[in-house]
Amino acid sequence: MSASPVSNRKKVTTHTLRSRKERGEPITMLTAYDYPTALAMDRAGVDAILVGDSLGMVVLGYENTLPVTMEDMLHHCKAVARGAKIAHLVGDMPFMSYQVEAREAVRNAGRFLQEGGMDAVKLEGGREMAATIEAIVAAGIPVMGHIGLTPQSVHKLGGYKTQGKSAKAARRLVEDAHRLEEAGCYALVLEAIPDRVAELISHRLAIPTIGIGAGARCDGQVLVTHDLLGLFDRFTPKFVKKYAAIHAEMARAFAEYVEDVGTHRFPGPEHSHQIEDEEFRALLEELEVERV
Ligand code: KIV
Repeated sequence: MSASPVSNRKKVTTHTLRSRKERGEPITMLTAYDYPTALAMDRAGVDAILVGDSLGMVVLGYENTLPVTMEDMLHHCKAVARGAKIAHLVGDMPFMSYQVEAREAVRNAGRFLQEGGMDAVKLEGGREMAATIEAIVAAGIPVMGHIGLTPQSVHKLGGYKTQGKSAKAARRLVEDAHRLEEAGCYALVLEAIPDRVAELISHRLAIPTIGIGAGARCDGQVLVTHDLLGLFDRFTPKFVKKYAAIHAEMARAFAEYVEDVGTHRFPGPEHSHQIEDEEFRALLEELEVERV
């Protein structure tokens, strides 16, 4: 089913997402980092676009998300904001832009709205982030929480592992989810946690949960677009459904281009600009040559 034209649709807001949960309608979110991708998502009717710090890995080629800076994020947020006019836009706060001090977190969160054109910010962490989230929300900036596998803590977690598998760890996640809702989060990403734990959290919270590797019972789903498109060459997590194989298609197209140029099949006359015969003859006369 294709979405109705962009011009007929209203901007998706935090309130839209909340009422989608109340009506039991699944929320769709995807990551985007550039103008054409954001435009295509708006046309496809994606509800929310996350400019994720995953861009550090899938666009900038880093090993993990830790090297990503505020300037990197704002650069990509601006491009996405130019492409998507309907989707709800969420900017991901990068490592060390919010962990040190609440005042600094508020200032950086503000930059996502003021300079990056985002509607909200997302940050990782449980109860330890509650006071910071309260400060950002008090400044009028909507905050999406993110618990479970939090990639900025990859070294603390000992790798990209499923979280909340024991009763004790799952209980901590449930408590964190409640604390983040109390702190003022309008939505919560649940990453790489068992499906029944995600379902339990989703039932207990009034705010929408958006799952990635958290089963089918969250209020919405998010994927890293480069995984969904088969555009990231390194690995594909188990929870990803691949809808295309763009990396392989790009490699095929580039190889064909190399072959075409090498064998003079490209460019052909249809790709070239022409000069009138008379003008070209005059040029040869001026240069005192008979032909090229
Ligand atoms: O950075 C990102 O893309 C994310 C998603 C995995 C939720 O945080």
